[in-house]
Amino acid sequence: MAREFTRVGVVGLGTMGAGIVEVFARNGIDVTAVEISAAALERGRVTLTGSTDRAVAKGKLAEADRDALLSRVDWQVGLDALHSVDLVIEAVPEHLDLKQRIFAELDRVCKPEAILATNTSSLSVTEISVATTRPNQVIGIHFFNPAPVMKLVEVVRTVVTSADVVADVEALCERLGKVDVTINDRAGFIANALLFGYLNHAVSMFESRYATREDIDAAMKLGCGLPMGPLALMDLIGLDTAYEILDTMYRRGGRDRRHAPVPLIKQMVTAGLLGRKSGRGFYTYERPGSPVVVPDEHTPVSTGAALADGARAIAKVGVVGSGTMATGIIEVFAKAGYEVISVTRGAEKSAKVCETVKTSLNKGVVRGKLSETDRDAALGRVTWSATLDHLADVDLVVEAVVEELSVKKALFASLDEICKPGVVLATTTSSLPVIDVAMATQRPADVIGLHFFNPAPIMPLVEIVRTIRTSAETTATARAVCAALGKTGVVCGDRSGFIVNALLFPYLNDAVKMLEASYSTADDIDYAMKLGCGYPMGPFELLDVVGLDVSLAIQRELYLELREPGFAPAPLLEHLVTAGYLGRKSGRGFRDHTQR
Ligand SMILES: NC(=O)c1ccc[n+]([C@@H]2O[C@H](COP(=O)([O-])OP(=O)(O)OC[C@H]3O[C@@H](n4cnc5c(N)ncnc54)[C@H](O)[C@@H]3O)[C@@H](O)[C@H]2O)c1
Repeated sequence: MAREFTRVGVVGLGTMGAGIVEVFARNGIDVTAVEISAAALERGRVTLTGSTDRAVAKGKLAEADRDALLSRVDWQVGLDALHSVDLVIEAVPEHLDLKQRIFAELDRVCKPEAILATNTSSLSVTEISVATTRPNQVIGIHFFNPAPVMKLVEVVRTVVTSADVVADVEALCERLGKVDVTINDRAGFIANALLFGYLNHAVSMFESRYATREDIDAAMKLGCGLPMGPLALMDLIGLDTAYEILDTMYRRGGRDRRHAPVPLIKQMVTAGLLGRKSGRGFYTYERPGSPVVVPDEHTPVSTGAALADGARAIAKVGVVGSGTMATGIIEVFAKAGYEVISVTRGAEKSAKVCETVKTSLNKGVVRGKLSETDRDAALGRVTWSATLDHLADVDLVVEAVVEELSVKKALFASLDEICKPGVVLATTTSSLPVIDVAMATQRPADVIGLHFFNPAPIMPLVEIVRTIRTSAETTATARAVCAALGKTGVVCGDRSGFIVNALLFPYLNDAVKMLEASYSTADDIDYAMKLGCGYPMGPFELLDVVGLDVSLAIQRELYLELREPGFAPAPLLEHLVTAGYLGRKSGRGFRDHTQR
């Protein structure tokens, strides 16, 4: 028989605690909510009523249910109020000594059979448990932010947590409508161990002015379908909490430099810029605790102003190449009203590309997204050619040929001979240095990267890669062109992986290393990222879609360029590629796809 939980205690009603109170009270469980002072208690109460009022306003909660929910909460200052609860969850700031003091006190106050749980993200549950006389009844119950929304709970057992306690907590999670994964006590558990290296890396990109906060966040949202960008997520987590988590993970997790908190985080914490909870972090919010971002001095001016910033007028665009990317890009420009000259290596290839573009446009017509007139007009704007000489009077060239530096350099040298002055020459490379391509011409100031994502007609993101020689006008032109295409252009420096791949692939590689270390299963790791962080796919699902060989190649490039030891490709990834397990395309990767 699973244990009955009729009353639970929550200690600390900040970002997490207030949400955890809501989760229990919503599911019919009485809660004693405890804070350190009357003022902090009031803040917790305001957070809970704000959240439940919003749920009522959105029609997700009936007024009567809200009132019943609120009536289940008993608000108290001090731990003594917890003498009769069946379980306590502690959610105070991420400091080991503070948590140990609280657990020693809980051990004294709570009834002997009560379970004592911590919501710690990174500290050792074992170290917290030894502050009590009942370490076998101590467990980690790690909720995700916002607790009422995110489905995942990581249940963390130590070597001494009793099996009954684990089973009772798992049953409780089910009653709360959560999906739990039960794991051992390791720094960062599953989700944070995979998340925080990525978040810290994103902050370092921002700190080094590699890209703006808006561009870093837009890149990850639009390029990977994440629910929010990394800097907005740091603001949601709270920079003080994020700092402590990184610091603990660095010290507990083998001193991986990628977890050493980027200095800017500490500076922001010291300056009181804690994120949403203080009203300002990477972004500025309407007021403390509000999710609404308001413009501040770093908010970029609109694209209209960028046009005034010296962008050149573009009417005629050359697209070189005949692969998937070139085909998609031709369609994107033609649909947006540009005159397009497609150049391939022969009439046969041109005919094939033309056919593919037609098929894709026809699909748009069938789906009611494009009128027949617009389809015909788009096709009418494309000229099919097999000679580069036809690019003599275009305003922009987008190169999308094979990913080989020698081929691209030779092509850019030819374009330099053929094209009129002032043309913007763009490469769609996803892994080669744009500056190498630029220096194959006599006009490196006019050369830029335009990294479209596959499929180009659908994916809303373009990474605009400027080299140290790219002129401001060229960048402004690229930004204006992306806007005219209805895409979000994000500007970044010319470094391996640009924004998206540099942030995405090390995370995927870390997931492989976690699997290889037998810490968890591929299924649980996928669940953790989808249900804990709202990712559209788990890392192993995504690796199988992208292709293990492609992922390995990108990870190798990142490792070679940045020399970051933590970026070294996971041996398991290399072995799977060697064995021909490349993902969906070969029928087997991390999972077997032949049966599905
Ligand atoms: N923020 C997140 O996204 C997140 C997600 C999952 C887990 N966590 C973990 O949850 C815990 C809480 O983090 P947070 O972000 O909610 O912190 P927070 O700073 O927002 O809130 C902590 C609360 O604890 C209260 N407190 C401090 N000392 C206390 C005491 N002695 N008795 C009672 N209350 C006390 C504070 O007044 C504050 O309201 C940490 O262990 C953190 O790692 C955080």
